[in-house]
Amino acid sequence: MKFLLPLIAMLVSALCAVPPVAWAEQPIVIKFSHVVALDTPKGKGAEFFAKRAAELTRGAVKVEVYANSTLYRDKDEMEALQLGAVEMLAPSLAKLGPLGVKEFEVFDLPYIFDNTEVLHKVTQGALGVSLLSKLEPKGIKGLAFWDNGFKSFSANRPLRTALDFKGLRMRIQSSKVLESQMRVLGALPQVMAFSDVYQALLTGVVDGTENPHSNLYTQKMYEVQKYMTLTDHGYLGYAVITNKRFWESLPSVVRSQLEQAMKEATVFANKIAQEENDSALARIKEMGKTQVHTPTVAERAELKKVMIKTHSEMASRIGKETIEAIYRETGFDPARL
Ligand code: LMR
Repeated sequence: MKFLLPLIAMLVSALCAVPPVAWAEQPIVIKFSHVVALDTPKGKGAEFFAKRAAELTRGAVKVEVYANSTLYRDKDEMEALQLGAVEMLAPSLAKLGPLGVKEFEVFDLPYIFDNTEVLHKVTQGALGVSLLSKLEPKGIKGLAFWDNGFKSFSANRPLRTALDFKGLRMRIQSSKVLESQMRVLGALPQVMAFSDVYQALLTGVVDGTENPHSNLYTQKMYEVQKYMTLTDHGYLGYAVITNKRFWESLPSVVRSQLEQAMKEATVFANKIAQEENDSALARIKEMGKTQVHTPTVAERAELKKVMIKTHSEMASRIGKETIEAIYRETGFDPARL
């Protein structure tokens, strides 16, 4: 009997070392659904968050990441979040307009951000916090902004001047600003779920699209697009969002631990975004299936002169005050073409 005592003592001390919540209850499960591949800025950011959430909550929370539209596709995911069928998403900012929060389409305005440095003055500052708070009446809690990057155009004809876009059916995200952007170019905008784009390009349902290079590469769009033009004409980023009722139901200590995990994941995702897009572009070039064109100064100026019209066209939809607040914060001058 005596030899059992040390064993019992070890077992008791081992159990005491495990936090009560870890062995007393099942972990809180957060289903995190998104529509891009794992090896993208958002894909890696989600995995990073899942890892840190498990570590910081010491197993009290388990984040299940469902990548590449495996759980929900574009439109379905937003409805699932509001119904509480999924707890976390990171949709493109271009996809929040249909919720009725039209201010988010300001991020789709062509050329509104010169680079990520001025962009972060908005997304990582007070303006970003204010924009995320506009989601709350929709039952959504905005947790963070994550970068992807600046977009290039692709199509099955060379795209060098605005005239080259005339009549092209161009896939876009569900954003009225992106519709306006394509129409001022003379193209025909086609809203479509991200998971359907490859097949639509392959079969000719659409002629072209726009995205940062990490998406164009990981969805193999280089296989079905003969030409790509490195325009950097607009930004694509994400809002990491959760179901507000779920978030507020969490124990406050767990919520704080998840906020810390999200803070770290945001720094990580934004740090890798540029390198992910640069390596994706290098791989597209290596594949040799898409002719990659760098616009000349004159070509850039002409495209900007045409697309900048979207700012005035969409001011009433987005709200002049939102646009002007971003102009002020970033020092953007629409007259400076
Ligand atoms: C798209 O639909 O093109 C993007 O929003 C995909 C993504 O989430 O990066």
